[in-house]
Amino acid sequence: MSQHRESPTSLLAALDRGESLPAHWYTDPSITEREIAHVFRKNWNYIGPLSQLTALGDYITGYVGGVPVVVVRNERGLAGFVNVCRHRRHEVMKGRGNAKTMQCGYHAWTYDLGGALRRVPRSAAEPGLRLDDFPLLPISAEALGPFVFVHLDADASPVQALYGPILDIIAGSGVVLDTLQPYSREEWRSHANWKTMLENYLECYHCAVAHPGFNAAIDVRPDVYKLATHGMFSSQTGQVRAAALQGKSKVKLYDVAGAVTQSQYHFLWPNMTININPGFPNLSVDVWVPDGPNATKGFSEQFFGPGVGEEFAQALIAFNKQVAKEDDILTDSVQRGLLGGLPDRGRFMTNSEHLVIHFQKMIVNALGSSPQ
Ligand SMILES: [Fe+2]
Repeated sequence: MSQHRESPTSLLAALDRGESLPAHWYTDPSITEREIAHVFRKNWNYIGPLSQLTALGDYITGYVGGVPVVVVRNERGLAGFVNVCRHRRHEVMKGRGNAKTMQCGYHAWTYDLGGALRRVPRSAAEPGLRLDDFPLLPISAEALGPFVFVHLDADASPVQALYGPILDIIAGSGVVLDTLQPYSREEWRSHANWKTMLENYLECYHCAVAHPGFNAAIDVRPDVYKLATHGMFSSQTGQVRAAALQGKSKVKLYDVAGAVTQSQYHFLWPNMTININPGFPNLSVDVWVPDGPNATKGFSEQFFGPGVGEEFAQALIAFNKQVAKEDDILTDSVQRGLLGGLPDRGRFMTNSEHLVIHFQKMIVNALGSSPQ
């Protein structure tokens, strides 16, 4: 492939013509490394629900572009740190919970909730060690509605400025964000590039073909199902089908009747998706992280509004899992196609897949020119 053909300018021009990124962008480990450096480590990443960070000492851990991070509530509010001990670089905090201090489980170096190093066993015998020189490294941590985000840059621009308008769009669905409660959290792994998976998420051209249940619940016709880009996020909105509301679907469905009649599927650059389905107030979050070029790992969190029954909760989760299973079969197949490298480029349907084109442009802009 010539250098010229893969310059950012020519890739962006190709995308404008509906021509996709080259296949090796989905299989080359050096591209994944650059994405981790220039996409994941340079943007806000969702870490967990604000409702799990309400009391002093509550904490959540996670990873941003492979960097262990922790968010804690201290006397001043939310604070984020690189979750790695300044001593031998063991991870300090594990999972989620509540703690009075942040103590490393390796040699018991102990940090306060502001990240300052307070106690080091045997430090009296190490007069050259100044504890003030070794605080946990600070990062940015901010809430947007019920969602907490982190950014490795301690001076990152506010998350509200980038994604704030999404809160009003979600409010339009009938879901009241402030009342949502976390219900479940699951980790998952799939066998396709993270972009292959998100690009599948970003269009519903395939829905009528590949998702019989989803297609029975949601009106996916292009004049009804809307796709819109909003800078750093994009949104798909659909309406529940009348036949589904009346219980007349040909496919067995969960009970879609409830306060929420819209469906919404949002993508927040670079790797968070938010789903709302018709029925009782519900919202799920997925986070998608590269696990090498040919696999993706992530987690799903399900939230429900007050008073939602167990039967609805289980049925909706099963519905979401069925859609995810159908999508995994598609994206696994696409990844096998990409691994072969032929054809090198795909051709988009520009009126149905413009959110995918928008995403690929953001990738090109983040990575700059491709390596030889
Ligand atoms: Fe799908």
